[in-house]
Formats: sequence, structure tokens, C-alpha cells
Amino acid sequence: MLLTIPGVLTAEQVATCRDRLDRADWHDGRLTAGHQSARVKANLQLPEHDPVARELSDLVLRALERSPDFLAAALPRHVYPPLFNRYVPGMAFGAHVDNAIRQVPGTAHRVRTDVSATLFLSTPDEYDGGELVVEDTYGTHSVKLAAGDMVLYPATSLHQVMPVTRGARVAAFFWTQSLVKDDGERSLLFDLDMAIREIGQAAPDSPTTVRLTACYHNLLRRWAEV
Ligand code: NI
Repeated sequence: MLLTIPGVLTAEQVATCRDRLDRADWHDGRLTAGHQSARVKANLQLPEHDPVARELSDLVLRALERSPDFLAAALPRHVYPPLFNRYVPGMAFGAHVDNAIRQVPGTAHRVRTDVSATLFLSTPDEYDGGELVVEDTYGTHSVKLAAGDMVLYPATSLHQVMPVTRGARVAAFFWTQSLVKDDGERSLLFDLDMAIREIGQAAPDSPTTVRLTACYHNLLRRWAEV
């Protein structure tokens, strides 16, 4: 399931991020790439220990905790601290799949990457190119969102960032280990959750709402790993 979530960050939070990031100390993004992806990766990243990266990573994590759509869609068990990248003309990231397991820097903690996320921090009119192109079973999706909006997609997906030909594309990206590893099961739970929200607003006291809610929790109980 590919899902866009608008307004994960407010305009003020985006402005804070951009103020810090536009003056940050960017490094070659290949430093954190695996063997295959290093061959197709050409971008800039903030080192994970960079104070700006840590401050903004915390800002994004706090915003995620307040995003009902992120919580419902990703069913997060662990969130890898968000990283930041920047593409200027001539930069791109060719087709790749993200590493399955990532170790959180400075800890023994490992995160299985079930859900990939990109949170856009540049407005679409600031740059040309730079679309995130994700392949899934329903075809190819080209994603370029407003600043503060986020896309989630299964980390099993082949994806790429198209070449930037003007301006700068700045984004946060991260991975989530979900309580529900399987994308199909997670998508069903999300659809059911959304339907229950709708029916719950129309008929909050209906026995049907109660029964569907029970189904949701009993499926989650069946599928979740905690
Ligand atoms: Ni990737």
C-alpha cells in the first residue's frame, strides 16, 4: 500500500527544518548506502550524529506520534530516527530496495524496515525532477508532495529518486518496523480502521460498529508481533 499523509509537519515546523537544513553541513550520501545502492546513489545526507540531524529527527518523531494516519497505516513498533537528504542538479538515486535491517547508530538496537517513508521539506515549485518513483504490484507511482506531506510505501518496493535538474530537493526519510510485518495484512487493517472511523461517526452506538471494532482488534491480535 502506498499512502500519502498531508500535513505531517506544520508550515512553521517546515520553516524550522529548512532554516537549519539550508545551513547544514551536508556529506556524500554514499557513506550510508549498501553495496548495490552505492552504485546508483548520488545525493547529500546529514551525518546521523550531526546536531542538526538529531534536533530535526526528534522534531519529526514527535510529529509522527501525533499523526493518527501514520499510526494507523504503519502500526509502528520501532521507528528508525529520521535522516535528511538533499539533491541538487545532477543528483539522483537509481532503482534500489532499502536494506532489510538497519542498526540504530550508537546502539545495539536493530530495526527491520517494513515501511519506508519520505517526508518532503521542499515545495514542488522549488525544484524540477526529483520525483520519488515507487514500483508496486499495481504499477509505478510518481510522487512529489507539498512540503510537510509524507508518503509511506512498503520497504519491499523497488524505488528511485529521479534526477533533479533545477533547485534543491530536501527531504526527511526513515523506516518503520511495524507490529504487522506483512504489507497485505497491514493494508487490510488500515482499510478496516478507516471504514470503522466512518461508520463510527455515522452510527457510534450501532452494534455493527462494536462488532467491526472487535474484528479489527482480533485481527490485530492475530497478526501483531510485540
Ligand atoms: Ni531507498
